[in-house]
Amino acid sequence: MQITTVTSLSGGQGKTTTVFFLGLALAKKGIKTLWIDGDPQHNLTLYGRSPHKEDEPTLLECLTKAVKPIEAVYKTQWDNLYIMPSDRALEQSQTYLANESMGERILHRRIKDLPFDVILIDSQPGRSQLCSTCICAAEKIIIPVESNSKGLVCLQSTLETIEDLTECGAFEGKVAAIVPFRDTIRGINRTKISSKAIAYFQKVGEETGIKIAASIVDSEKYKQAIDAGIYLPEELEHTFTQLTEVIND
Ligand SMILES: Nc1ncnc2c1ncn2[C@@H]1O[C@H](COP(=O)(O)OP(=O)(O)O)[C@@H](O)[C@H]1O
Ligand SMILES: [Mg+2]
Repeated sequence: MQITTVTSLSGGQGKTTTVFFLGLALAKKGIKTLWIDGDPQHNLTLYGRSPHKEDEPTLLECLTKAVKPIEAVYKTQWDNLYIMPSDRALEQSQTYLANESMGERILHRRIKDLPFDVILIDSQPGRSQLCSTCICAAEKIIIPVESNSKGLVCLQSTLETIEDLTECGAFEGKVAAIVPFRDTIRGINRTKISSKAIAYFQKVGEETGIKIAASIVDSEKYKQAIDAGIYLPEELEHTFTQLTEVIND
């Protein structure tokens, strides 16, 4: 079993979009996949059309040991794809995690024996106990970042946070890929802002050995596919096909 967390410290960097389409791509290949929604804003729960009812267990009850982890898992409408959903109440887990010793390792301990080939965790933006436990649950981290100056700053602070968690022994995995998000092409050319950002990501890749994945281009088609609950058009699937290989590597 392989656990991957998709994280980046700012909002709007493409985390939930990446988790959504990567989950679909893995499941389509016959890989039994579990999505975990680690963000109290619970966009993945909405995008993934979680079938659970309001009073049924979520990630919060799994973290706080109110239920067995498998009791917070639901089958989605897609074959091979399951979800551990969340709602706003997940915010309550912050205090619980802060009061437990090694709160960063709690999610890992809870999910490590679940019967899936791949677990994909979506995380909330910002430094928090919840975000740390989502990062430290994983063997591999994927960092999506916007292809602009905000993305550059976000990438630096995300890498620093992961380094801090590694130094204190809480995180034992590695950063497997950086995904440029909203790469903007006008006509046949990439905009100057995107070009500059992607050149910077490539430089970080060369310095650190982290793979820079094929970018997610700026397009309404991603949102349209999420809203319709369907796969991406073939010409846009490349990023996620590549990321399935990163996970199975
Ligand atoms: N390829 C794309 N081009 C432009 N906007 C996109 C694309 N994919 C997703 N979006 C939109 O960008 C916003 C942020 O994406 P999201 O994945 O929710 O980021 P995060 O989870 O990091 O906050 C969402 O409103 C989403 O609909
Ligand atoms: Mg999100």
